[in-house]
Amino acid sequence: MSNVKFLSGENIPLEMHKVRMVQRVNLLPVEDRLQRMEEAGFNTFLLKNRDVFMDMLTDSGVNAMSQNQYAAMMQADDSYAGSETFYKLEDVLKDMFGMKYFLPAHQGRACENIISQILVKPKPGSAAIMNYHFTTTKAHITLNGGVVEEIVGDEGLKISSKVPFKGDIDIDKLNALIKRLGKEKISFVRIEAGTNLIGGQPVSMKNMKEVSAICRKEGIPLVYDASLLGDNLYFIKQKEDGYLNADLRDITREIASLMDIVYFSARKLGSARGGGILVSDDSLFLTMRELVPLYEGFLTYGGMSVREMEALAVGLQETLDFDVISQTPIIVEALCNELIKKDIPVVTPPGGLGCHVDAKQFCSHIKQDMYPAGALASAIFISSGVRVMERGTLSEQRNEDGSNRFAEMELARIAVPRRVFTLSQVKYTADRINWLYENRRLIGGLTFVEEPRVLRFFFGRLEPIGDWPTVLAKKFREDFGDSL
Ligand code: F0G
Repeated sequence: MSNVKFLSGENIPLEMHKVRMVQRVNLLPVEDRLQRMEEAGFNTFLLKNRDVFMDMLTDSGVNAMSQNQYAAMMQADDSYAGSETFYKLEDVLKDMFGMKYFLPAHQGRACENIISQILVKPKPGSAAIMNYHFTTTKAHITLNGGVVEEIVGDEGLKISSKVPFKGDIDIDKLNALIKRLGKEKISFVRIEAGTNLIGGQPVSMKNMKEVSAICRKEGIPLVYDASLLGDNLYFIKQKEDGYLNADLRDITREIASLMDIVYFSARKLGSARGGGILVSDDSLFLTMRELVPLYEGFLTYGGMSVREMEALAVGLQETLDFDVISQTPIIVEALCNELIKKDIPVVTPPGGLGCHVDAKQFCSHIKQDMYPAGALASAIFISSGVRVMERGTLSEQRNEDGSNRFAEMELARIAVPRRVFTLSQVKYTADRINWLYENRRLIGGLTFVEEPRVLRFFFGRLEPIGDWPTVLAKKFREDFGDSL
């Protein structure tokens, strides 16, 4: 957001865009919300969007596009091979990251498949070391026979903190791990910036430089997940010494110069839908290139439609505009502050991506094997019609012996899709979560009815332990009368 001060002294997020296309949303009565949650097996992924008032499940593929992105879609060059649209996108990406090659993919996890097949599969049992995993990243690494080692700094796993870059890798842990495992047992080091599962926390340039120097010295490939680069650029500029006046393109290039592989989900970065990998090394490019036509499509589209590629080319350039990238972190901060005012536990400092409510404290009476964050996500929908995502034990994979792997953090993530919701809608969300906090003792646990083996949170079905959802809905009706 541009520097706009209010006479009142209040810190109000101010949108630097106007809305000229709208979509109708419905807010169902609480009894219907309860019924829809039951039908969806207490899994917010299984709700139908028509029953959702505000879809804050994710910021993936649902960001508002600009008029220039829509305009670009109209002039796409539809061809299987050699499309002009592809070359346009390739030029934008090479210029933005300063890297030599671009390989297109249909979304972020497709890049993770290719990277894991090339770097993990040939080294069974090797470790992929990272600040923190993302669900699909870990699934691809383990499917290819690797293991994930997480070495985010201790502060990164604390709910409340004042440390500005909680996503930083702990350098001592990195050195110790390389020493313990030996570099031949390490497939790659990965930096996710910002982090997803631990509250959208950023990584500092200083930390990336330190990690890069170690990886270069040891000859270990360094991979950068740039899906949440927009948010991270904002935080580097705002919080890191020496970057306040730096150009966003220069910061992006500086980050990329430290990495061997950069990949991204364009469902997040660039407000479109797609993905891709950037590398500068010739042999790495040639080996990865072989997999693109096999899994994604020909090298000049990689599973993306030309229209999306056009929108992405424009969207990426808009990512280098401070007014565009500051939108989400500022709204996230406003939402977090509304909740903090009522002592509701949220991850601090507020990060990018969304506001993360700590279900371990919010639902301290629910044991971790009864999925407190999943229960909280269901309760939020019943109380508000707002759809959020569980980011806790449900989103983990079970241990090899079948026992639950308890997540370090139990979070209900209220994602903030870019430029989609207004401040009044955000205030509504905070209001209903405030009500729920006052009634938190009514929330109970969940248990699986159907549990898929891989990425169980996507289509697993659960049921409540006891009749707490009905009791909660009744209390809502008592307190809110005829209000929706
Ligand atoms: N890396 C990060 C950091 C992500 O947040 C995601 C997706 C991916 C990789 C995978 O990308 O979805 O295009 O295949 N995050 C979404 C979310 C799904 O809701 O947080 P994808």
